[in-house]
Amino acid sequence: MLNEYDCWLQKRKIASNIKAPETVFIQDSLSGETAAQAVKEFTSGIQRLLGFLPKVVSLPVEQETAAKENAVLLGLFSGFEKYPSFPAAALSNKTAESFIIKVTGAQIIIAGADEAGLLYGVFRFLNLLALGEIKDGFELIDSPVSPLRMINHWDNFDGTIERGYAGGSLFYKDGNFSYDRQRIEDYAQLLASTGINRLSINNVNVRAKAKLLITEEYLKHVGELAAIFRPFGIKLFLSINFGSPWSLGKLPTADPLDPSVLEWWKNHTALIYKYIPDLAGFIIKADSEGEPGPFQYNRTHADGANMLAKALTPFGGTVIWRCFVYNCTQDWRDKNTDRARAAYDHFMPQDGDFADNVILQIKFGPYDFQVREPVSPLFGALKKTRHVMELQITQEYTGHQIDLCYLPTVWEDIMNFDTAFSDTDKRAAIKDLIASNKKDYPNIEGFAAVVNVGLDNNWCGHTLAQANLYGYGRLAWNPAVTAEEIADEWSALSFGAGEAAAKKVKEILLKSYGAYEKYTSPFGVCFMVTPNTHYGPSVEGYEFSRWGTYHRADKDAIGIDRTPSGTGYTNQYSPKNAAMFADPSTCPENLILFFHRLRYDYKMKNGQTLLQNIYDTHFEGYEEAENMIKDWKALKDSLEEDVYKSVLSRFEKQLDNAREWRDQINTYFWRKTGIDDAKGRKIYE
Ligand code: GCU
Repeated sequence: MLNEYDCWLQKRKIASNIKAPETVFIQDSLSGETAAQAVKEFTSGIQRLLGFLPKVVSLPVEQETAAKENAVLLGLFSGFEKYPSFPAAALSNKTAESFIIKVTGAQIIIAGADEAGLLYGVFRFLNLLALGEIKDGFELIDSPVSPLRMINHWDNFDGTIERGYAGGSLFYKDGNFSYDRQRIEDYAQLLASTGINRLSINNVNVRAKAKLLITEEYLKHVGELAAIFRPFGIKLFLSINFGSPWSLGKLPTADPLDPSVLEWWKNHTALIYKYIPDLAGFIIKADSEGEPGPFQYNRTHADGANMLAKALTPFGGTVIWRCFVYNCTQDWRDKNTDRARAAYDHFMPQDGDFADNVILQIKFGPYDFQVREPVSPLFGALKKTRHVMELQITQEYTGHQIDLCYLPTVWEDIMNFDTAFSDTDKRAAIKDLIASNKKDYPNIEGFAAVVNVGLDNNWCGHTLAQANLYGYGRLAWNPAVTAEEIADEWSALSFGAGEAAAKKVKEILLKSYGAYEKYTSPFGVCFMVTPNTHYGPSVEGYEFSRWGTYHRADKDAIGIDRTPSGTGYTNQYSPKNAAMFADPSTCPENLILFFHRLRYDYKMKNGQTLLQNIYDTHFEGYEEAENMIKDWKALKDSLEEDVYKSVLSRFEKQLDNAREWRDQINTYFWRKTGIDDAKGRKIYE
């Protein structure tokens, strides 16, 4: 049975394939708090899954393993040099945060390249144990593919969360820090169990009282939070406001090239590090949607970022500079400005201008976390600037955690996108580019994602949306993991390995993204969503607004021509992709309206017109939502009543939403064109 608070770390007794590990020997050289956490996780995890608390004994590093059969050995690679059965491959593996799990007869070794690696090894062992995969002879050596695996909170100081759909903030209330320590620890445990290693704790829109977060009054609380996350291998970032030198420091300017501004940041950064000596750094949204930035002073992004980088350098800190920069006061009459071009146009010319401790954070697509967008052309193109990809776990445009929308489905598509950045290097898919910093190479150092958690008991509002949080961590660790593998793991960990409910839930998850995509905006056209809230349809809601998000549907055609004959956006891609996207016959159909303006009678690959495809997908999407409810109802007797009911009530709301989308979209196009559905289904006049 499922306790929704525990997510994928359920207290559920399992039938183990191995002899119960009654004694845990730990290398006596293990001294840090992350190692201590690893040991604690191991023993409490064994209690959770096998029902007893193993005894912990400290073991001198020199001692031979032979005597330690029937035991678990926890330590660092370096402490296992003399152990005959320890794999040489692990000894030579120096990748930070990597681990080995090895089971020989009744002996289990879990070791890390460092303490964080040990912690990840323990968590992975426990998950694999719960999944029934740990048996005699089991061996796994693993390292994170992405060095940076970050969660972004958009939590406001008043306790609300920008784009949050699961209750209030875990950290703040009414303009102050306010949290349940145990809950934060539980959160840190959940995150660390999927491999997350960085966390920003406040909204990137640093407004009102949140500007004071970096003052002494509040820094002590940040320090306390950092101390809770620290044993879990998670370091904090703070979102900062570029205008702080004048808003807090009372300087007349925040000009990044003004020496007094740099001086202010240096002093202030020193103060911040007094409270949080291992702060990972600052994240900043500058010159974006009204936030201050270097443009105000005719300076570049690099000027701004490098100034902050200088202030952080003495402390080993990093600046994460967001690339979500575009003209948010566009006039819909202006057909030349294309918002999709903005990030590339702003940042590509500055490739190589950024300091070594600056990382650009780029949204996965050129717009804004839409249901279907192409991958941003900056990936594969930036070669001299460190950067990471930004994803959104919180379901801003994907159903507010009311509608089920299993995001790893689209993340897998993103990972498989071939940037084709070079003629010679064929390994050019996004997942191939994820790696530690490499000189003059378009590697992506990892991921940041806006999180979907809040104070709701099940963390995510929708219990099944926990799969998105889990999935993000797994994918950030290894971008080659498939959506199906994640769904399989998450369902089994949550609902019980081998349980029929777990299998059914996995199937439901895997159907959900397709359904959502079908009943919302068609074929990558984007932004037919209700303005501001971003839930439910509003076909022309953004059509005459200032946000640069237009589809320009008329009676004959729809979409923006982004080919060289239009806005030229396609040319931001590598030549191969530019050609592929620019030609409707080779452009992926799920993005065809993102790149092209097409007549409604355009023939799609299935031989039907574009319009008929719009009708078909909307009827199908609704039916798929209906089927998900049916599937869920069939699980009634095998689920906890509270879980069953809360998910059911969300599915019911989802069905209303799907119906609204289906009918508004179909009616809109029917009214524009006067063309009936070839299959004669009901379209409202
Ligand atoms: C979107 C979102 C905002 C958010 C912004 C960002 O526009 O709607 O709420 O602030 O993205 O990523 O900064």
